[in-house]
Amino acid sequence: MNLLIAAPSKPSPSTKQLIEEAEKDFKVDFLNFSELSIEVSTGNIDTIGLDLNSYDFVLPRIDRPRFQPGFHFMRLVESFGVKSVYPAETVLIAHNKFLTLECLAKKGVPVPRTILTFNKKFTKNALQKFEFPLVLKVVDGSGGLGVFFLENEVSADSVINSMDSAHRELLVEEFLPNDGEDIRLLVVGDKVVTAMKRTANKSGEFRANLTAGGTGKKFEAPDELNQIALDSARAINAKICGVDVIESEGEFKVIEVNLNPGIYKTGLATDVNISKHICEYIKGELK
Ligand SMILES: Nc1ncnc2c1ncn2[C@@H]1O[C@H](COP(=O)(O)OP(=O)(O)O)[C@@H](O)[C@H]1O
Ligand SMILES: [Mg+2]
Repeated sequence: MNLLIAAPSKPSPSTKQLIEEAEKDFKVDFLNFSELSIEVSTGNIDTIGLDLNSYDFVLPRIDRPRFQPGFHFMRLVESFGVKSVYPAETVLIAHNKFLTLECLAKKGVPVPRTILTFNKKFTKNALQKFEFPLVLKVVDGSGGLGVFFLENEVSADSVINSMDSAHRELLVEEFLPNDGEDIRLLVVGDKVVTAMKRTANKSGEFRANLTAGGTGKKFEAPDELNQIALDSARAINAKICGVDVIESEGEFKVIEVNLNPGIYKTGLATDVNISKHICEYIKGELK
């Protein structure tokens, strides 16, 4: 069986681990899809130098900064009818925090109350619909960048005024009180294969992202939470994803779904071979 693992750069430690594991079961090629050229002409669409027809399965690793080439690549995968882990549309949904929340909310998945605004004036108006503290987010941030804590109207004004454009999509979100912790659940197929509690590293830092200095520890998720993660993955039509949840005042709320979940660090922190689970899932899909 021929597997194409595709990412927008040289393989990261997570992608390297996936390639190594996959080589035990598949003939594996790696593609840096940001180096791809795509050509259309009347009645024809072509990938220059790539024969997608020769693959049985495509495993994409699409990160937030480079989701646009990822979207085009997944459109091709769809056009060529090659099996994969999500349709192209999911790339747009998952890389826009508001579209994600919209899909989750529609399916009844618990999410924080959030207002999307398109310019600074309306962002400031939206603040009046909440009580401080609040969270402000750009729609396309990652790794904790683009997420701001607004303690009161003065700090809100200064953060909003410092944003680079007057016409920027922003999310005003209720702050979910917690101890600087969030939960990352790793969904593969119809299973949650591992879960990790992440804790922010400094007092005063509310973002628990590992890239923002947080630390991760294995977490035994209750059935209710596993079900929320599986419902979230289904809501955005992704077979592999990381679901981020905050537990606040006894309730779980999903804050985002990540299409490019770290496998290497999460695997180390939780002692689970996530790559193996992914390969088992692909084998099941190709039976
Ligand atoms: N509504 C919220 N209430 C409290 N903390 C939040 C909220 N939203 C995000 N956070 C904290 O900020 C971190 C980053 O937010 P997130 O929306 O996941 O953005 P990113 O894509 O940058 O990871 C989360 O992991 C969590 O620790
Ligand atoms: Mg996150």
